[in-house]
Amino acid sequence: MQVLNGKELALKKRAVLAEKTAALIKEQGIRPCLVVVLVGENPASQVYVRNKEKAAVEAGFESRILRYPADLSEDKLLSLLDELNQDTSVHGILVQLPLPAQIREDLVLEAIDPAKDVDGFHPFNVGRLWTGDPLRVPSTPAGIMALLEEYGINPAGKKAVVIGRSNIVGKPMAEMLLAADATVTIAHSKTENLAQLASDADILVVAIGRGHFVGPDFVKEGAVVIDVGMNRNDEGKLIGDVDFEAVKNKAAFLTPVPGGVGPMTIAMLLEQTFQAAADTKD
Ligand code: GUN
Repeated sequence: MQVLNGKELALKKRAVLAEKTAALIKEQGIRPCLVVVLVGENPASQVYVRNKEKAAVEAGFESRILRYPADLSEDKLLSLLDELNQDTSVHGILVQLPLPAQIREDLVLEAIDPAKDVDGFHPFNVGRLWTGDPLRVPSTPAGIMALLEEYGINPAGKKAVVIGRSNIVGKPMAEMLLAADATVTIAHSKTENLAQLASDADILVVAIGRGHFVGPDFVKEGAVVIDVGMNRNDEGKLIGDVDFEAVKNKAAFLTPVPGGVGPMTIAMLLEQTFQAAADTKD
C-alpha cells in the first residue's frame, strides 16, 4: 500500500503559490486578499480558520478574519457580505460553516459574489461545475483530484463510489470524478448493502463523518481509498472515517488522517483565492 501524502503535496503547492504570489504582487501590484467570516465559537471552526489564516499569510496573501458573536443577525451578515463584495481589495470571501440557527445558510451563500466565492458553494458556481465549465470549485474535492493526479491515478473508466452526499464534499466530488470519466455512484447513510457496494469500487471516497466507519469489508483488494473524515475519538484524538490499520493491507493507495485530505483542502482554498485575485487583472 502506498500512502497518499497530502501534507507533502500541500506544502509543495503552497511553495509554488508563494512564488506566483510574489510575482503577482511585483508585476501587477495585486496582493491576494482572503477574508474569512467566523460567526460564533464552534471549536472545530476556530481551528480550521486559524489554519487557513496561517497558510494564507505564509503564501504572501493578505488575510483577514472577521469574528462575530453567535447572536449576529442574518441582516447584519448579509450587509457585511455586500460591503465585502464591493471592496475591490478583497478577492476571496469565505463564510465558515456551520452558521448559528438564526442565519439561513442558503441566503448567505447566495449573497457572496460568485467571482469571490472561493469555497465554490454559490449556486452559480455549483451550476458551472455541473455543466463542465467551473469557475470557483469546492476545495476538498479539488484537493482530492489533485492528490489522485500527483500519484498518477487516472479515474477514467474506473468505478468510483463516494460515500456522503453533502454540498461541501460528496456532491462536488462525484461531479469531479464524473468529469474525469469515472463511473460514479453516490452512496450515503441510507444506502442498503453499503459495504457490498463500496467493495466494488476502484476508487472509494469516504465522507460520512463517522469515526472508523469503513473497515476491510468495504474495500476491494487494490482499491484507492480516500478518507475525508475528521472525527474525535473518546480520547479526543483525530481519527478518519476509515480504519487505516484495518484496511492498509487491502488498499493499494490510502490517505492518512491527519496528513491526507485536510492539508490539501487548505492548499486548494489558497489556489482559488490566488485565481480570484489574478482574474481581477483582466
Ligand atoms: N466547514 C467545514 N468545511 C468547510 C469548508 O470547506 N468551507 C466552509 N466555509 N466551511 C466549512
